[in-house]
Amino acid sequence: MNEDLQSIKADRPNIITTEVEAISFYRKMDTKATVNQMIAGKYVLVEEFYSNGLQVLNELKKTLLLRHQGKSFQGKRDFRSAFRKASHRLLLKVEENKLVVKKSPNIGWLTELYPDVSDFYISFPDIQGMNSSWQWHENGIEIKTLDLMLKPYYGTYFPTRFDHLKLFDKWLKKYEGSKENAIEIGVGSGILSFQLIQNGFKNIFATDTNANAIIGVAKERKRLGFEENITLNHGDLFDNCEVKADIIVFNPPWLPAKHKLEEGIDKAMYYEKELFPRFFKQAKKHLAPNGKIVLIFSNLAEVVDKNTTHPIIEELTKNNRFRKELHLRRDVRASSRKTKRNDSRDNEKVELWVLGEKGKK
Ligand SMILES: C[S@@+](CC[C@H](N)C(=O)[O-])C[C@H]1O[C@@H](n2cnc3c(N)ncnc32)[C@H](O)[C@@H]1O
Repeated sequence: MNEDLQSIKADRPNIITTEVEAISFYRKMDTKATVNQMIAGKYVLVEEFYSNGLQVLNELKKTLLLRHQGKSFQGKRDFRSAFRKASHRLLLKVEENKLVVKKSPNIGWLTELYPDVSDFYISFPDIQGMNSSWQWHENGIEIKTLDLMLKPYYGTYFPTRFDHLKLFDKWLKKYEGSKENAIEIGVGSGILSFQLIQNGFKNIFATDTNANAIIGVAKERKRLGFEENITLNHGDLFDNCEVKADIIVFNPPWLPAKHKLEEGIDKAMYYEKELFPRFFKQAKKHLAPNGKIVLIFSNLAEVVDKNTTHPIIEELTKNNRFRKELHLRRDVRASSRKTKRNDSRDNEKVELWVLGEKGKK
């Protein structure tokens, strides 16, 4: 199987590489006036200290909340859109892939994602996103079921709750079929593929539409010593996949999209109407004899809107392709014991579905 990972370009925040006409912002300046300029369309460059940028953003938030008052859905939407637009006019200068202002966080993504350019301007909110992502990457996420640390790549979905991983682990421990070939659709940070490997699967063909997921898992498989076991493909569902697998695993997005999806994390959370029918149609062609489809899902969409249809139940009832072999459910715990759950997510459950081909054992 050929992998062409060299040609994959990471998704990264836009930068400005030319000189920009911007108002320099120093701590002692009039923050309100600066913010009004930003709302009117002017760029503002943060000078001296990183925290000066936070000061401007706080003021911007206050000003825009006053302008878009009201708790209506539309009011909140207008606020978010105005904040997004104006806040991206707040810039930071990067030299030699480091932020120039004092007391800035050290963000490795500035080197990793921009190997082709060292000096540029970047928006403050993009830096905040990169900073948070770099912290997750550097600190790692401890996966107890696997006894390893996950280091998620920029712009990639990664688990912060682990109930679905426990469910998958429970099933893997009982699985007695062939462990020669598996396919993982939507590999994300790689966690399910690593679970497969640690439970004895030999070859995994893993795909994702998100370029950063593929780049990240390529690095992770090297770090964790799984290079022999995982073949990666950047593409939709089973594109370029010639494997017939004993197990096809997919932890798909859990919520139906009501908006046009963007590339990246959006496609990890929301699915377009056709995703599941396309998945099931293609999956049938990629199952080895006695192969199983394992889907990790949740009732989250139903908790939010009880009229939502369940795409797996829909497939089972409408089409004559697969039969249900197993359906496990587990309560979702709050991500931290300190987090008080006061919302409808109290009823949330994660699900593991195992489907086999109709007419076969
Ligand atoms: C909920 S995340 C799961 C990630 C990872 N497997 C895990 O369990 O943590 C869903 C993943 O599916 C990917 N995805 C969404 N649509 C896809 C498609 N049509 N083909 C391949 N991957 C897709 C997303 O980019 C995302 O990485």
